[in-house]
Amino acid sequence: MDYKNLIINGRSVRDFKETPVEKSIQEQIESYISGSKKLVPALDLDLVFYENSLVYERLQGVAGYKGFMIKAPLYLFLFSEEGDHDIENAGYVGERAVLKARDLGVDSCWVTFKSSDEVKAKLGLQTKKKLLGIIALGYEEAGHDKTVQGATKIGDSISRSKIDIVPEKSERVDLEEIVYLDKWGIPAGIDVLEERALFDAFSFARMAPSALNKQPWKFIIDGGRVILCINNEDYSGSYENRIDAGIAMLYFGIVLDITMFDSKWSFDGLNKEDYGVPSDYTIVGYCSI
Ligand SMILES: Cc1cc2nc3c(=O)[nH]c(=O)nc-3n(C[C@H](O)[C@H](O)[C@H](O)COP(=O)(O)O)c2cc1C
Repeated sequence: MDYKNLIINGRSVRDFKETPVEKSIQEQIESYISGSKKLVPALDLDLVFYENSLVYERLQGVAGYKGFMIKAPLYLFLFSEEGDHDIENAGYVGERAVLKARDLGVDSCWVTFKSSDEVKAKLGLQTKKKLLGIIALGYEEAGHDKTVQGATKIGDSISRSKIDIVPEKSERVDLEEIVYLDKWGIPAGIDVLEERALFDAFSFARMAPSALNKQPWKFIIDGGRVILCINNEDYSGSYENRIDAGIAMLYFGIVLDITMFDSKWSFDGLNKEDYGVPSDYTIVGYCSI
């Protein structure tokens, strides 16, 4: 799969034709994911597709920005056993499914929600596993090329009236603002990234989608480690930021996997004080390089 091109040419699609997504495509996504790397391989994570239009009706007010559910012919639900870094793992695996779907010509958009139990109750789902992700899938309705605008400001509220029609992917912050060298706040600079053969990996990590396009990530290069920090005081309680973290880990790791070596993210043992990380950011983990 040409991951780089799929990332470069990707964006969220929110208006879908009614055309169903063929069963064979669902099977190909499922089998691709079952043979792919996971962030936390020990966690049992199930991918379940729902074609039922009742999903859209029943999740109105319960899922989507401000409760505006996205109408799609197909939804991919991610159910996981609970465990350390389960949400990051769902972000990592779910976004790989997004890339595989794109490879097969299928458009998509992550759909946020507040409570796994509430969604399960609305749909009458009995599984004991926790719902950790919803992704809308389908074929874009031509002429409905929508991208969330004005969503970069933290705390900005998104409603349908704020979704303007623009032809391109939502904006991303500059690389200089998100990659630090040794300590928080010291920009790594493009030359250093090129010298260390990391420019590509960070350029792709920067393109990761995030809830409300908040782009909550910062990276610190510390010798042989790249540390991922996420903006959130209460990281453990935050669903969206942890999905965002998992997606950024996938994008960074994918580039290392195809250009350098098998990437691996680790989670424990780093102290934020050692790197001057401010109180509103949390160290999620690090990738050895
Ligand atoms: C965890 C997560 C949840 C999201 N939830 C929603 C949602 O409920 N509704 C929506 O319209 N877009 C949602 N999005 C899509 C983001 O708004 C979108 O990825 C971001 O604005 C960047 O735009 P792009 O994907 O087109 O590059 C979500 C994205 C992520 C990663």
